[in-house]
Amino acid sequence: MSSFDGLGYEEFRRMAGDTSLNQHEKIGFPSWYRDGYEKAIFRDITGKLTNINGRDKTILDIGPGCAGLPRLLIDHSVACGHSLVLLDSPEMLSHLPHHKGVTKIAGFYPNCEQALDGWKGKFDAILCYSVFQYIFVEANFWKFLDYSIELLASGGQMLIGDIPNISKRKRFFSSSAGIQFHQSFTNSTDVPKVDFRSVETHCIDDAVILGVIMRARAQGCDAYWLPQSPSLPMANRREDVLIVKT
Ligand SMILES: C[S@@+](CC[C@H](N)C(=O)[O-])C[C@H]1O[C@@H](n2cnc3c(N)ncnc32)[C@H](O)[C@@H]1O
Repeated sequence: MSSFDGLGYEEFRRMAGDTSLNQHEKIGFPSWYRDGYEKAIFRDITGKLTNINGRDKTILDIGPGCAGLPRLLIDHSVACGHSLVLLDSPEMLSHLPHHKGVTKIAGFYPNCEQALDGWKGKFDAILCYSVFQYIFVEANFWKFLDYSIELLASGGQMLIGDIPNISKRKRFFSSSAGIQFHQSFTNSTDVPKVDFRSVETHCIDDAVILGVIMRARAQGCDAYWLPQSPSLPMANRREDVLIVKT
């Protein structure tokens, strides 16, 4: 089974150990997608996942990877006295620094109950950034959502961020702004091909995002569909979901 970009948990493990790849490439991005943008991405995250701005919070990062974002989160958490749990493959986690208050858990989310059941009802914030597209293909995404909500404390927030939404992508690339973007990116006069009727088996679309929001709301949470700041590199085709456990 492969995700929309051919990557998955095992492939990420392999890339984490590949010494020919830089930190952006290890997490599946060409450097220019992230280089110089990580502080802006982190600002966008802290503007939405506001619980991480307090003090002495308990935070889970699902799939932190090993590039700049988890390092910014680690520094921020240490400065705020947070207790931070990082969950990813052992190969990915091995690149991240050790700090007091930072716990690394090696595992495949959400099939890691043995390690996480003790944290049920404890997390003030859960971050899952640029990871849902892999979990959507490789795991049961309802279990991902239901278990994450179980892990949240009352008033806890979960940001499912940087979701590549194929419906948004199609809308963008059939607009004049999208056609212009494509032509300047490819340095050509090509018009991108968009087929609104094709079935995109391994992709997240509007229906999946709406389903996530409706299921979270059905469990008594507030849930919101949020845009990314236009200054972020993939804001024209990615979106975020914020869930708040009431
Ligand atoms: C595209 S990277 C994103 C990394 C980081 N969140 C960021 O945005 O910089 C995806 C990360 O999710 C991890 N991952 C993928 N599927 C996972 C799963 N089921 N459980 C835990 N981690 C997973 C990968 O190992 C990889 O580190």
